[in-house]
Amino acid sequence: MRKLVVAIDGPAGAGKSTVAQIVAQRLSYTYIDTGAMYRAVAWKALQLSKLSCDEIAKIAEDIDIKLNYVNGKTFISVDECDVTEAIRTREVTQLVAEVAQIAAVRKHMLTLQRQMAEAGGVVMDGRDIATHVLPNADVKVFLTASIEERALRRWREMTNKGFTVDLEQLKAEIECRDKKDCERDLAPLIQAEDATLVDTTKLSIEGAVDTILELCSKRRENV
Ligand code: DC
Repeated sequence: MRKLVVAIDGPAGAGKSTVAQIVAQRLSYTYIDTGAMYRAVAWKALQLSKLSCDEIAKIAEDIDIKLNYVNGKTFISVDECDVTEAIRTREVTQLVAEVAQIAAVRKHMLTLQRQMAEAGGVVMDGRDIATHVLPNADVKVFLTASIEERALRRWREMTNKGFTVDLEQLKAEIECRDKKDCERDLAPLIQAEDATLVDTTKLSIEGAVDTILELCSKRRENV
């Protein structure tokens, strides 16, 4: 059976990584979290206190990022150091949308991401996968949810991890990141013309997974 390339884009907190990881597991495909790659660059820039655009571009050029997808979970390493948890901090989250606007950073990430998808059998999620990284993907999905629902999900996730966070502040931060991702000049967050919209505001994780698996089955019938 031909292995498909599945592209899933959408705003922060829409459930992309959760849904994409399950889809990948069900299909026995590799999951590639491109947001984690931008986060890895932001993390390293913070570690080195090198925060000018030129310094960050240089970091993106030299960085060794590995995504290791094992039993439904992705482990991320930077220069052989595990950063799976470290790239999810608030500090990194606040910087990453700026990092993702730098042309040289996007150029390096694009090259890496295309190499990772070369063999097929991948589910890749991000903001520009269907529009820029893999415009010939077999299945394209734009996964979204209302801002209220996305903020609430992040709030639950953080609260479960033991952090005290304010829902309204979280909502404002997500809106700010959405704005930067949607309004940047380079590869902005936008639904590809040929992508299927999946709104998860009232849809369960399983519901979203089933919808995508069905799109994959249909696609396979046509290839
Ligand atoms: O999905 P995430 O929250 O981990 O993504 C982190 C940031 O990276 C987000 O602000 C947008 C950016 N990003 C991007 O510009 N292009 C991608 N393909 C993936 C993420």
